[in-house]
Amino acid sequence: MSESQTTQAWEDNAPSFGHMLHEGVDLSHKVILYLEEISVSFDGFKALNKLNLTIDAGELRCIIGPNGAGKTTMMDVITGKTRPDTGTCFFGQTIDLTTMTEPQIAHAGIGRKFQKPTIFENHSVFENLELAMKTDKRAWVSLFARLNSEGRDRISDTLKLIRLDSESDHQAGLLSHGQKQWLEIGMLLMQEPQLLLLDEPVAGMTDDETERTGELFKTLAGKHSLVVVEHDMAFIEQLGGKVTVLHEGSVLAEGNLATVQADPRVIEVYLGR
Ligand SMILES: Nc1ncnc2c1ncn2[C@@H]1O[C@H](COP(=O)(O)OP(=O)(O)OP(=O)(O)O)[C@@H](O)[C@H]1O
Ligand SMILES: [Mg+2]
Repeated sequence: MSESQTTQAWEDNAPSFGHMLHEGVDLSHKVILYLEEISVSFDGFKALNKLNLTIDAGELRCIIGPNGAGKTTMMDVITGKTRPDTGTCFFGQTIDLTTMTEPQIAHAGIGRKFQKPTIFENHSVFENLELAMKTDKRAWVSLFARLNSEGRDRISDTLKLIRLDSESDHQAGLLSHGQKQWLEIGMLLMQEPQLLLLDEPVAGMTDDETERTGELFKTLAGKHSLVVVEHDMAFIEQLGGKVTVLHEGSVLAEGNLATVQADPRVIEVYLGR
């Protein structure tokens, strides 16, 4: 057996947790996501209409737009939940998301946060992160393996990041709404996604929780790429990234928040609803 074969055999059998390095994502053009001319119709109604969007690696992008603009549908297309009628959707230079299943897309490095937190209410905060780490492709090993020190360190780092280190042993079901949302973000992070999609992450949060969430996202940007859909303009302002305005399934305007807010077409769309 050659040395490389030995290494491969060791990696295949190693009881390490959640190591998803996503080496397959080609970021040579510094772009992590390309949507080109994406259209989706539901019974003849165009939820997305030739949508074009490019997200740079490490970017924190905000998506705004009135109800029904197609924001959630866009995330459904990226994550493989909805197949576009036409158009292309690439993760990095080479990964064609329109040919992949939802689990394949998640495994490739795209994590999605839904509005309602999906945590294990009866388990502790720590256990939730541990379980998230174990939903790796190597679960057949991990489920029976004991948590090693590296895994414990990763959980501990994540707990600090989501500001739940002092709640580690608390039952997740007893957390506040905002804390549950952070826990779910922490669970996503345990999978080491390169791209995070967050649909209305601060809905229902207190002002203080919203601000802390903004701080968290700003910390995550750079190492991860984030696409955040929100209606809360104070939150968008806090994030400070580039803003894309969706309307009737396509991009209406793009730029910093002040610029798009001053755009007469954007004003009309928001006043007209
Ligand atoms: N599965 C579906 N079947 C039929 N119509 C759908 C489906 N999903 C979305 N739509 C329609 O497509 C349009 C876009 O919906 P989408 O949920 O993407 O909007 P959104 O921008 O996320 O809105 P909101 O801000 O209210 O969340 C809406 O008119 C919606 O009713
Ligand atoms: Mg939506």
